[in-house]
Amino acid sequence: MQNQAQASALVNDEEIKSASNLLKAGQLVAFPTETVYGLGCDAANAEALARLYRVKGRPGDHPVIVHLSSVDQLKDWAKAVPDQALALAQKFWPGPMTLILKKSDKVLPAVSGGQDTVGLRIPSHPVALALLKEFASGIAAPSANRHGKISPTTAEHVNAELGDLVAKVLDGGPCTVGIESTIIDLSADTPRILRPGMITFTEIEDVLKKTKKKKKGKGEDNSIEPRAPGTLSSHYAPSTALKLFAHHNLPRAVATAENLMMHVSVMAFSDPIKCSAVKIWKQLSEDPAECARQLYVTMRELDGTGVDYIIAEEPPELPEWLGILDRLRRAANG
Ligand code: TXA
Ligand code: MG
Repeated sequence: MQNQAQASALVNDEEIKSASNLLKAGQLVAFPTETVYGLGCDAANAEALARLYRVKGRPGDHPVIVHLSSVDQLKDWAKAVPDQALALAQKFWPGPMTLILKKSDKVLPAVSGGQDTVGLRIPSHPVALALLKEFASGIAAPSANRHGKISPTTAEHVNAELGDLVAKVLDGGPCTVGIESTIIDLSADTPRILRPGMITFTEIEDVLKKTKKKKKGKGEDNSIEPRAPGTLSSHYAPSTALKLFAHHNLPRAVATAENLMMHVSVMAFSDPIKCSAVKIWKQLSEDPAECARQLYVTMRELDGTGVDYIIAEEPPELPEWLGILDRLRRAANG
């Protein structure tokens, strides 16, 4: 894994300044974050946002996350900053967490997707932070992939998909987290996790438990809802169909492919099963952090193997695996 010094060495101050100037001129700049690469534009520029939606091919009612460099900037974008938000920010920012808060009047409809909330995040990647500090305002950035495709975790992935359509792609090396941020909605009475990620439910719950929140007339409320139902069920999908199987069903899944005279590539925690139907078998790490880093690269690689479908093995349904399980399920729905 690369360290921060190596990552920032890839992009010098001149490049950061020039990227920031492009953003100020309303252009699109793709940049690395620790989770995935983002496709950035000035979050306060409606024309730039329209360009971003066009390039991404994203429906207009999908909100985008605004990236910031310091907690002080929260007040510019959020109507109010509850204690719970500050406690989570202190613990997990800069880092792979997005907070949904009630939006301020400054937030453009194209950012909020017409809702009364805004998603905010301070990423930890040194190149992202340098760019955000230089730009000194919010950068709106969805993942730098075409809508519905796999998020990019290297600059090469971004260049291949969007290189011709953006003013600049900053190369900060491979992403060290590998899947998108954990999204926590603090805009309603009870916090909800909208998208699981590598900061787990348990870690978030620990912080929220320590932060007392008064609920009018009802005493304290420190509960958290595990998951918002039905948010973007199919997403993050390779072009090749992906089927998800529990560990004990893998041998049968592979045998079925053989019986159907189909070819498959496999991403699994288990040792390879010898079978003529299997073209490539990619072993996934049993360490969740390492597995998250490999996940999208592996999906992309297997997507290019020209098989009938990809077989993926389900990770255990434990807190530290929920982000990965979520992305595999979405890929399987694609
Ligand atoms: O790790 C990440 O979050 C990456 C990097 C680039 O920061 N960004 C990312 O953005 O994954 P995107 O646009 O691909 O996914 C953001 C998700 C979308 O599902 C969007 O619907 C949700 O966040 N979101 C953004 N603002 C929201 C809001 N106000 N309310 C509810 N959901 C929101
Ligand atoms: Mg995305």
